[in-house]
Amino acid sequence: MKIANQRIAITGAAGGIGAALCHRFADAGARLLLVGRNPVALAELTLALKQTAPESCVASLVLDITEPEAPARLRDEAQARLGGLDILVNNAALPCFGALSDMPLDEIERLVATNLTAPMRLTRAVLPDLLALKQGGIVNIGSTFGAIGFPWFAAYSATKFGLRGFSEALRRELAGQGVDVLYAAPRATRTAINDDRVTAMRAATGMTFDDPDFVAKRIVTAMKRGAAECAIGGPERFFARLNGLLPRLIDLSLAAQTRAMAPFATSSQSTTET
Ligand SMILES: NC(=O)c1ccc[n+]([C@@H]2O[C@H](COP(=O)([O-])OP(=O)(O)OC[C@H]3O[C@@H](n4cnc5c(N)ncnc54)[C@H](OP(=O)(O)O)[C@@H]3O)[C@@H](O)[C@H]2O)c1
Repeated sequence: MKIANQRIAITGAAGGIGAALCHRFADAGARLLLVGRNPVALAELTLALKQTAPESCVASLVLDITEPEAPARLRDEAQARLGGLDILVNNAALPCFGALSDMPLDEIERLVATNLTAPMRLTRAVLPDLLALKQGGIVNIGSTFGAIGFPWFAAYSATKFGLRGFSEALRRELAGQGVDVLYAAPRATRTAINDDRVTAMRAATGMTFDDPDFVAKRIVTAMKRGAAECAIGGPERFFARLNGLLPRLIDLSLAAQTRAMAPFATSSQSTTET
């Protein structure tokens, strides 16, 4: 995927990884449609992008991606503001940390709608335009937990496994038609998606955090290379492979960590992730 002069729509643009990606895209000469629910955060990001990349073309769209009309609104806005779209980055997501049995049903439904159904609906809406251009691509931001089902993150893991499967299948479906599909899997990253409880749990269990800009750099490099997947972190990549081959071994190796995480996962009302 080329970045320079490309028209890129990105959901969750004002979030930690989203904003870092936007800065890298703008610096590389892309034209951006920033999508998010918070108009103030979008305005602040637009200003920041204009300051660091004065030549950048930045439009924004206040949109809840789970709304029924969201795919049509995104496509129409990209057409009106950028003259079309070359790349869609499905980055927005909700967190979810805790025991599944504590999780309200509507929270699980919102999670699936945001993290899985919305990226599929948005992709479906823009795909005919990309195929007509025979270029560009779809970038889906998943997670390490999309390859390793993680205790206390069951619903979140399910959405990211789904997004990974969707990306893989679509990549194969579109092969040879000029449209790339990249599935990117960050590991723990220092952003607002991790609340104090998750941050404390991660510190207690020795998980490290990446910087959002490091993650964005890796994703942009993978886009430029035309990679199919970008899994961040050597150990995480190794364990994901091992999990595919010998999942019972990973069950055993995660047992102690599952117990160490339990007090954080069950201490109060559930919400939040990676
Ligand atoms: N940080 C990590 O540890 C980590 C690890 C692995 C994977 N990831 C993945 O990386 C991606 C970016 O996450 P992040 O860490 O940058 O989190 P973040 O800072 O919380 O950003 C996520 C953004 O998603 C947006 N969003 C949520 N629901 C939305 C909706 N219905 N409509 C539109 N926008 C919505 C939010 O924007 P508004 O509230 O402004 O709408 C928020 O800014 C996610 O896919 C996440 O799963 C993160």
